[in-house]
Amino acid sequence: MHAVAPPEPPALGTPFLSRDGDALRLRPIHADDVSALLRAFGRMSPEQIRMRVFHALTELPEPVARYLCTPHPDKVAAFVVTDDDGGEIRGEARVHFDPISEGAEFAIAIDPAFTGKGVGWALMTRLIEASREHGMREIWGHVLAENGAMLDLADRLGFERAPIAGEPGLLLVRMAL
Ligand SMILES: CC(C)(COP(=O)(O)OP(=O)(O)OC[C@H]1O[C@@H](n2cnc3c(N)ncnc32)[C@H](O)[C@@H]1OP(=O)(O)O)[C@@H](O)C(=O)NCCC(=O)NCCS
Repeated sequence: MHAVAPPEPPALGTPFLSRDGDALRLRPIHADDVSALLRAFGRMSPEQIRMRVFHALTELPEPVARYLCTPHPDKVAAFVVTDDDGGEIRGEARVHFDPISEGAEFAIAIDPAFTGKGVGWALMTRLIEASREHGMREIWGHVLAENGAMLDLADRLGFERAPIAGEPGLLLVRMAL
């Protein structure tokens, strides 16, 4: 009888240091990330959740977490930053590819204890790369006008801002690739 090899654990990802010296890793999201993603959601403040999804959401249903952890590779690229041992997710970001407009829509959220450390920068840079690799001509996102942290980050990355007709509370940030 042949011994069955245990399934390979997902690769831990590319190591990097946060601006404060925390040892972190960046890698594509994985189907095994569901529990860690639910825990990460539980650490987010109501205000952060509102910035990310534009409305109040008190709970991330498990089927939604499962869906978020199994992106279709033709349609979505999604990445997480984890602790060095892979235990906790400290940031999650994704782009949705639209083959018609050749635009990639981004969304991102960082653990509140890990903001201001360059984690958002690292994830946004990876999203830009992934969108280029996928042949997209533009990366864009809708950002609440009061979301100074995201608007600053987008500015520094080279995104342009534009108003959205009929949506005074929202801005479009976009960058040609
Ligand atoms: C907005 C958000 C994603 C920012 O993430 P973050 O990890 O705090 O951002 P960073 O630490 O990478 O960037 C913060 C600062 O570092 C700068 N920075 C980080 N790494 C850098 C680098 N390698 N080179 C130059 N500048 C860098 C940023 O431009 C910014 O400037 P600051 O000095 O004024 O603080 C985060 O606050 C968040 O999750 N908010 C809630 C959800 C949300 O708003 N999502 C966006 C809507 S989709």
